[in-house]
Amino acid sequence: MTPRPVGRRAVLVGSVLAMTGGALAACADERGGPSAARVIGPGSDEVRAAELRRRSPGQRVHTERLTARPATIDLGSRTVQTWSYGESVPGPLLRTRAGDLLRVEVTNQLPAETSVHWHGLALRNDMDGVPGITQKAIRPGAPFTYEFTTSDPGTYFFHPHSGVQLDRGLYGVLVVDDPADPGDYDLEWVVVLDDWVDGTGRTPDEVLADLMSTAGMGPGGMMGGSMRSPVLGGAGDVDYPAYLLNGRTPDAPVTLAGKPGQRARLRIVNAGSDTAFRLALAGHRLTVTHSDGFPVVPTTTDALLIGMGERFDVTVDLADGVFPLMASAEGKTGIALAVVRTGRGTLAGAAIPELSRQLVLGSDLTADPAVRLDPAPVDRRLDAVIAGGMMRYRWTINGAMFPDHEPLDVASGERVRLRLRNRSMMFHPMHLHGHTFGLVDGGARKDTVIVRPMQSLEVDLVADNPGQWALHCHNVYHAEAGMMTVLSYGR
Ligand code: C2O
Ligand code: CU
Repeated sequence: MTPRPVGRRAVLVGSVLAMTGGALAACADERGGPSAARVIGPGSDEVRAAELRRRSPGQRVHTERLTARPATIDLGSRTVQTWSYGESVPGPLLRTRAGDLLRVEVTNQLPAETSVHWHGLALRNDMDGVPGITQKAIRPGAPFTYEFTTSDPGTYFFHPHSGVQLDRGLYGVLVVDDPADPGDYDLEWVVVLDDWVDGTGRTPDEVLADLMSTAGMGPGGMMGGSMRSPVLGGAGDVDYPAYLLNGRTPDAPVTLAGKPGQRARLRIVNAGSDTAFRLALAGHRLTVTHSDGFPVVPTTTDALLIGMGERFDVTVDLADGVFPLMASAEGKTGIALAVVRTGRGTLAGAAIPELSRQLVLGSDLTADPAVRLDPAPVDRRLDAVIAGGMMRYRWTINGAMFPDHEPLDVASGERVRLRLRNRSMMFHPMHLHGHTFGLVDGGARKDTVIVRPMQSLEVDLVADNPGQWALHCHNVYHAEAGMMTVLSYGR
């Protein structure tokens, strides 16, 4: 997900990055289009002012350290060489309280440039962690300090926005606690799902190169085509050798322990790169309480479909026994697994009928009235037509492959309606940085939403966070093969 440094607007934004204040007025786009002076860049006064409004006197400060480095990681059934934050996959759990300042001192010990993106947070634009759009990449050996107010409570995660590094072990969860949360649960379990290839014979970079070069073999070829889901259509391009839950393969799962009658809150993150997961807990129903950090009208279901980059919080009233918490790789062969234990005994079988019963997607949920967007006239309508296919591995938004893109322009204060139109036969979890949109007509507040094949989905947002914000598919291979653009604030 690193923009390559070519393309008309990429050059423009790059120049915004390189300059400060008054120098901008002198810079104009060579096409005679909008001049750089009209683009609200990450280093602008508007971005600083937006951050100042989030700050408060006596704000608590959390300082954390994150070292991106090569590591040897035990996944359970195998040990792999990969890149991770510190010594573990997932990386460290970071935690703040809403309104706190988070300062993260990153050290890059990788043999490559990197960055850290704070997925889902409406934060200051210059801390969003997207090389070429909001900052320069962090060079090998170099430090970089991220510092921003964490305003909105919820379940978030962080990962590089550099190439396909997310598909290594570089990810971790950030929880922003809500001081006003009644805490109507006894236990909290963080559940991170991932599709795993690194260190098993191919790196994610090699997977991408294969996709780019062997695409065209079509269905029955070695690349995809056969991975289909009744719900999502084309379900992915990569057939992974393993799927992980909290960094473990299913033959060596983590145990989540509780007592019968307790209520557990699960904070579930799909950190996968090319896999949606269908998650269920045998013998239990799930009550979905939050989607992408924001509360929804509680909705009870047997199973939940989670796209890459989506997060859901669910509560479960625990029965007595030993139960599989299973996330099956939608449209693929394989599962991620944890064991939920509230009693004695061993895991009885692996059949989970709940997986094929009632299924909920993020787009089925309704926003909690407290976070529903107020009805308001739409000031600007934007279209993102998303397209592409396996025959030629290129994925586009509005006909263009990033970075050769046409940005989606907005102005501060506008109410924007964005229509996501999927013209392909695959699903795409579309993710917008720096904002939480609302699905039209009171649907959930989200920053990542699955758009199914040939589906058109409308979302509303308030343009209240100035800067340059990536909008892309959270299939990391699609994003790298072009499926990205920028929501660009202008003056
Ligand atoms: Cu999870 Cu643009 O990122
Ligand atoms: Cu996609």
